[in-house]
Amino acid sequence: MLGVYLALLWWVSAHAQIDPHSFANLEDVRIRHMSLNVTLDFQRQKLAGSVTHTLFWKNPHAKKVVLDTNGLKIHGVEILGNDGAWQSATFTLSAQDPIRGRALVIHVPYQVEKLRIHYETTPDGTGLQWLPASATADKKAPFMFSQSQSIHGRSWIPMQDTPAIRITYDAQVKAPKGIRVLMSADNDPSAPNNGSFQFHMDQPIAPYLLAIAAGHLKFHSWSPRSGVWAEPAVLPRAAKEFEDTEKMIQATESLYGPYVWKRYDLLILPPSFPYGGMENPRLSFITPTVIVGDKSLVSLITHELAHSWSGNLVTNQTWQDFWLNEGITSYLENRIVEKIYGRELAEMEQVLAYRDMMNAFRTEIPKAEQGLVQNLKGKHPDDAWSPVVYNKGQFLMHTLEHVFGRAALDNFLKRYFAHFKFQTITSEKFARYIDQHLFRPNKDKGFGMAELNAWLYGPGIPKPFKPPFSARLNKLEHALTAWKSGALSTPELKAKHWSTQEWVYFLGQLAPKFDRKRLAELDHVYQLSNSPNAEIGLAWLPLAIRSGYTGAQHAVERHLGSIGRNRLILPVYRALTETPAGLATARALFEQFKNRYHPQTVQAIAALLAKAEKEQMR
Ligand code: BES
Ligand code: ZN
Repeated sequence: MLGVYLALLWWVSAHAQIDPHSFANLEDVRIRHMSLNVTLDFQRQKLAGSVTHTLFWKNPHAKKVVLDTNGLKIHGVEILGNDGAWQSATFTLSAQDPIRGRALVIHVPYQVEKLRIHYETTPDGTGLQWLPASATADKKAPFMFSQSQSIHGRSWIPMQDTPAIRITYDAQVKAPKGIRVLMSADNDPSAPNNGSFQFHMDQPIAPYLLAIAAGHLKFHSWSPRSGVWAEPAVLPRAAKEFEDTEKMIQATESLYGPYVWKRYDLLILPPSFPYGGMENPRLSFITPTVIVGDKSLVSLITHELAHSWSGNLVTNQTWQDFWLNEGITSYLENRIVEKIYGRELAEMEQVLAYRDMMNAFRTEIPKAEQGLVQNLKGKHPDDAWSPVVYNKGQFLMHTLEHVFGRAALDNFLKRYFAHFKFQTITSEKFARYIDQHLFRPNKDKGFGMAELNAWLYGPGIPKPFKPPFSARLNKLEHALTAWKSGALSTPELKAKHWSTQEWVYFLGQLAPKFDRKRLAELDHVYQLSNSPNAEIGLAWLPLAIRSGYTGAQHAVERHLGSIGRNRLILPVYRALTETPAGLATARALFEQFKNRYHPQTVQAIAALLAKAEKEQMR
């Protein structure tokens, strides 16, 4: 009880400030619209030009605008005078803060309507990755892309980089001939590919959803409002793997209300993309590692699509409320999977999510950090990426479904999205709304604010809770026991046709460490080290490493050298760092591969290696 009270107290104080990860003086002034005018310089690997901010003043006495920057070179600031002429303004840059970057402080003589900043990006920025042609699938042209979430947008646009505001934008982007530029806006597949691109985004979005990508890209369309962009070498496989996308949009609409963003396209990035997917409005960015040929990993698409409701339409106000984006989305993801691919797959994914979460609770996340609302004081918001916000958030929604019934929860969610559309909310606002619209009208169900607060601020999984169950994975449990005891031989497992989820489940039950002779047998019979499926790699390689099974060494190198998605490679590096010899290997591989990794990935691995080194010194 005291714990919950203290957590509440912390929460109130943390929220006195609108967003602890931004320097912006949001009480004084907010950006309403951004107008970007930039050139992509692939030779020097930089984006340069200007951004013009249209301001909305909230405090009549304010005379200052504070913007977020990180790794930017600022050339000058101009303000639009009453006479319609631009005049230069003075500015200062604060010292570098290790998390937030540098504040750009602009003093204005009066409350100007427009402010223009001339700037360019530098290699210190973490928001853009520039790839040489050799690192692309077609090897024809260089590639660049952004990853703004959580606070990397400030490294390619000086702005109020906080989800607490919403902006519209337009952009003029120049690129070398033959390179197509796309943004999280109105990409017209038939726009000429002539080196000059215009974009408009007239629906207000949070700034972390600003996105840009450029490369040798072609388009395949599935329906009038949806299709996929990819390099020509990847396009046919992507078009096949994700051909159900239009169906997914319709399924989501039938559950949660209309898709309001007009187009919904996918963009397949090079393998160094640090995430599985990123829900950039109208254009989800997608890792190529989910194209495995059997659609077994398409829940990634249902996830990014679901963000069009939870996240992009109703947005978390700060990164401490991140579960509102990711937890609710993970639940929607699972519901869409169920609707299109059936209960069996949906249940398997729930069981895997549950197991990951319980493992994380047991081994890595202290009780004080197990509440859905995260305390990020002194932390980088990217550290909010955890099974707490994703999986526990998802299981809160499953619990509400169980307690109130599916129809009642679906109704509630539909109303919630309609009520808060194009708004930004806190966990507290969510709590008030759900109390009024779901808890109070259904008092007999015995679930109210006290129960919700236990999820939001307390550890573990509060009761009442019904753990997920999958008959298909449960069958494996029997095979597993028989195989472990030797009653069933390795070929008798009949695993040739197991799905990705079955392999991930099975191997996870052997983790963290297993008899290396048996692993060698598994590898021999089922060729796990040769699997092109990186999710299987993620389940197999750390197990092989921890068990001392050396037959997977080449696979480890191939895995770490060919992909850059953080979730798939960090656990492999982590497993290596657990012995002195492994740590040396990890260091060597990192040195070898780091120039192909994304700057955010480089940072994450460097931090992991530094931590392991410190631990082994002790
Ligand atoms: N919005 C996230 C990606 C993200 C989170 C970027 C935090 C930066 C900071 C995206 O929607 C996501 O959750 N991606 C997951 C997908 C998975 C859970 C299906 C990923 O990348 O693995
Ligand atoms: Zn997400």
